[in-house]
Amino acid sequence: MKTYSIAAIPADGIGPEVIEAGIVVLKALAETLNTFNLNFTNYDWSSETYKKTGAYIPEGGLEALKKHDAILFGAVGAPDVPDHISLWGLRLAICQPFQQYANVRPTKIFRGTESPLRNCAPGSLDWVIVRENSEGEYAGQGGRSHRGQAWEVATETAIFSRHGVERIMRFAFETAQSRPRKLLTVVTKSNAQRNGMVLWDEVAKVVASDFPDVTVDKMLVDAMTTRMVLKPESIDTVVATNLHADILSDLAAALAGSIGIAPTSNLDPTRENPSMFEPIHGSAFDITGQGIANPVATFWTAAEMLAWLGEEDASKKLLDCVENVCERGILTRDLGGKATTREVTDAVVAEVERLGA
Ligand SMILES: NC(=O)c1ccc[n+]([C@@H]2O[C@H](COP(=O)([O-])OP(=O)(O)OC[C@H]3O[C@@H](n4cnc5c(N)ncnc54)[C@H](O)[C@@H]3O)[C@@H](O)[C@H]2O)c1
Repeated sequence: MKTYSIAAIPADGIGPEVIEAGIVVLKALAETLNTFNLNFTNYDWSSETYKKTGAYIPEGGLEALKKHDAILFGAVGAPDVPDHISLWGLRLAICQPFQQYANVRPTKIFRGTESPLRNCAPGSLDWVIVRENSEGEYAGQGGRSHRGQAWEVATETAIFSRHGVERIMRFAFETAQSRPRKLLTVVTKSNAQRNGMVLWDEVAKVVASDFPDVTVDKMLVDAMTTRMVLKPESIDTVVATNLHADILSDLAAALAGSIGIAPTSNLDPTRENPSMFEPIHGSAFDITGQGIANPVATFWTAAEMLAWLGEEDASKKLLDCVENVCERGILTRDLGGKATTREVTDAVVAEVERLGA
């Protein structure tokens, strides 16, 4: 029986609440199925640590993290720390050196939940958004001159390398190929952004020739937002840059019912480094400590992590249990229900335990 070593980084806001719920459910699943083991190590890296020590990740932290099979991450961001400090201090400080270049964001409407779109039945919104996660608009290139002066200048330079674009494009084609519809939409903005985005289009065309069974179409990012709202059934797999896919995937989560259900995987497809799994949402200051955060995004995240580790059967079973609970109407406020984080977690654990009966 395999034992997987999981690093848990709950971090800030509702992060600790949903990660605690995720670990409870994962432990119940491992115990019930008895086909694999999970060992969790907690890392208390957060904005509190940053305020006390001046660093989110202590010296030697990344080396320690590297020894694990996967990382389960909550959310980072605090009201009294600028967001660019927290994001670059923790999340990007892991994603970038670990070359987690593929950010995978599935979205679908769960049984028992509703899309805010009129007439959008569950089967008609089932997407995977593949986001380039290592360069593009979040490469960290740029600078500021003449700080505080009326003539201050700031640049934020997007970086697109052929290597970076080709590897994410291949990953996206493989993802599309593995899904029944074999349909990939390549999203760019190559009318206005005439360098990097044109490179994306060119690389997409080259890579497409290796995947004759995948149907490809091309959209500008602005038009893609309207297609997502008006013709959700026409979409399956989507690939886009770091910034574009970041925005599209939040829209996708909202169209599927709530940002509280969507997962995200930061993958190093070479498997040289551990991959990192997190709910798509942030630290949600407005509901922190109230016990009402939706833990479903973390449960789906946990299922994605199990699938990546090779435990596909356990992954499918977990997601099924979560959908059964939604179908029974045990939903948090963001999905129109009244249940607390604890009540949803207990209901999923009970559903998991039923698997062993
Ligand atoms: N990956 C990350 O760690 C990550 C991602 C996004 C934002 N952030 C950070 O989080 C902080 C807050 O950002 P924001 O307000 O833009 O986004 P957010 O996702 O934290 O919250 C947006 C809205 O969605 C709601 N929401 C989010 N998750 C929910 C859940 N599980 N259940 C119920 N409702 C939920 C919140 O209450 C809020 O109204 C900022 O510091 C930001 O930088 C971090």
